[in-house]
Amino acid sequence: MTQEKYKVVDVANEKSSDVVWHLASVSHAQREAANGHAPAVLWFTGLSGSGKSTVANAVDKMLHDLGCKTYVLDGDNVRHGLNGDLGFSDTDRVENIRRIGEVSKLFVDAGLLVSTAFISPFVEDRASVRAQLRDNQFIEVYIDTPIEVCEQRDPKGLYKKARNGEIKNFTGIDSAYELPTSPEVHVKTAEQSIEACALQVVDYLKENGYIDV
Ligand code: ADX
Repeated sequence: MTQEKYKVVDVANEKSSDVVWHLASVSHAQREAANGHAPAVLWFTGLSGSGKSTVANAVDKMLHDLGCKTYVLDGDNVRHGLNGDLGFSDTDRVENIRRIGEVSKLFVDAGLLVSTAFISPFVEDRASVRAQLRDNQFIEVYIDTPIEVCEQRDPKGLYKKARNGEIKNFTGIDSAYELPTSPEVHVKTAEQSIEACALQVVDYLKENGYIDV
């Protein structure tokens, strides 16, 4: 083992203290330079049915068309695979967001603009993902849609089931959603079109120098 290729990392949360970090041959800076834009996670948070996935995908398409390297991680999809073992208790939601935080960090390290669409109802969990990334690499996008509107949309029929007691711990009904206190972008989907909502996010990236187009 050479000192140049490996470094010992803080193993406070790891099961083995014999795990060392393998340093990458291609640096983060090299990846960023090759991509031509700054990487970040666009962390969409909001109620079920608020429009997180819809706006995140519209942003993704706009950024992709601008030549950015992008990806979308979506709660409804990730819960079929990586997080398929998790339900909707508070403990499982915390673990859901912890794993997505880790995955997002890898995407950011790879140089991408990654959009995540998870309810992520707890302030503390969103803050701990932010704390793991460098300054400016975590952009909180609050998809602020009144619950009445989400319930009226009810695209998956889940609010109806929750009201009937067929689903327990449903966010906004019998499980908490803690409002973002100072999101970087505050989007109101009930008041403007999907395109306008997505543009608001893309404009934030332009105005703050993430993309230069
Ligand atoms: S989170 O709270 O852990 O961040 P996540 O975004 O992954 O949730 O998943 C939310 C999606 O799961 C919702 O959009 C909805 O389709 C579905 N779902 C199923 N049961 C629940 C529930 N009890 N509360 C909220 N969403 C649920």
